[in-house]
Amino acid sequence: MNRPSHCIEELTELLSESSIVHGDKLDRVTSYWDSTPAVAVALVMPRSSEEVGKVLQICSKYGQPVVTQGGMTNCVKSADPLPEEIILSTEKLNKIETIDTVGGTVTVEAGVLLQTLQETCVEEDMVFPLDLGARGSCTIGGNVSTNAGGINVLRYGMMRNLVLGMEVVLANGTVLSSMNQMLKNNTAYDLKQLFIGSEGTLGIVTRVVLRIFPKPQSCQTALLALDKFEDVVETLQKAQHQLGGTLSAFEVMWGNYVRGVTGEHGHTAPMSREYPFYVLVEAEGSDTTSDEERFQRLLESVYQSSVIADAVVPKSESERLSLWKIREDFESILEPEPFFLYDVSLPIIAMDDYVSGVETTLTSKWPECEVYVLGHIADGNVHFFVRPNTDADVGHVHEVCDEVLYQDLKNHHGSISAEHGIGMEKKPWLSESRSEAEINLMKAMKQTLDPTNLLNPGRVF
Ligand code: LAC
Ligand code: ZN
Repeated sequence: MNRPSHCIEELTELLSESSIVHGDKLDRVTSYWDSTPAVAVALVMPRSSEEVGKVLQICSKYGQPVVTQGGMTNCVKSADPLPEEIILSTEKLNKIETIDTVGGTVTVEAGVLLQTLQETCVEEDMVFPLDLGARGSCTIGGNVSTNAGGINVLRYGMMRNLVLGMEVVLANGTVLSSMNQMLKNNTAYDLKQLFIGSEGTLGIVTRVVLRIFPKPQSCQTALLALDKFEDVVETLQKAQHQLGGTLSAFEVMWGNYVRGVTGEHGHTAPMSREYPFYVLVEAEGSDTTSDEERFQRLLESVYQSSVIADAVVPKSESERLSLWKIREDFESILEPEPFFLYDVSLPIIAMDDYVSGVETTLTSKWPECEVYVLGHIADGNVHFFVRPNTDADVGHVHEVCDEVLYQDLKNHHGSISAEHGIGMEKKPWLSESRSEAEINLMKAMKQTLDPTNLLNPGRVF
């Protein structure tokens, strides 16, 4: 019998029948972005950290590589399985264990869906503030392993800022439990930070303690239309200064993005589709009357000084959600393939020139090229969806497209990944954003924690 068969035999003995599916019975897509059937040695769905530990002990004994999957929404192929791997899904680690509304913490297992956690916290008059379009599918473990960002980062930070404690299983099966609940704990190295954002390459996160916050009592939203990027920046600055810390989202959509997702085959546009920029701005506070007055004053001041050209303020929760759909639901621009998704960051002051430069270069190479741009610009983060519309070889076109975005980014000291990570897709470009010394230290950490390269091998580097 070969290596996988022995390993599968032992895993089958360890796990209940409902926690293991053999490779020939897999009924699973590769990822949210790739609906081709997943090919892997087997799928295991352990039910506790201890069980994850035992699975890894067996895999370690046979040198069996493992890919960890949460909600499979990863954008850079971190969690796409390879045929020689076992998929370890966190779907049965799905308990919300405790909520401490006094200390402001929640203890959860890794497979809990982000939206489930958000809704559970709201029932306790609290919020877990990480938020992103994939909330209904992505898991807390995936959010931790990718250091997820999303739409509320300008107010609450990324996942790294929200994790207080962690239980993580190492490649050799050791369960490392550091379920700290306090905001302050300076007892030597902050080990949990190693596992946050390392894309499952250093350990498998199974449980975490997260920060939660009192639920805001008011919410003000507006969709703004603007003529120039400098007006977008001025609006951001005014919102930061005038909203008394209540600004919670400032999502910028370039005109091409709004035109792409609205209209005949998309969402209904609530105003003219011809503006160069749109901003979905949201504030959340604790005093409805004064919050609304302050928000209104901001809108009046930017309108009267011609910083914004138009504004739509939703009159109901359903109107508010329709505005958010324009920002979050980009299904209508995903077809036909191929398209390439980018996730860069650079200083806000350099963004306008950078985006225009990229658009000009891409359309000079491929005249039919479609480019859709949006961003969490307060975090320095811009996303591009690029559809080159050329008959040339896809691999080559992708490489040229990468070069256009990343070369120009260098001039601005930007980063090739703001929030999606490196995975398998961006790893040829890691050295554009990280020095040789940094990458060597990262490799040394990987070597120490996973010497036989079992966990998410080939991701990151
Ligand atoms: C978003 C994803 C692409 O911001 O990061 O919608
Ligand atoms: Zn994003």
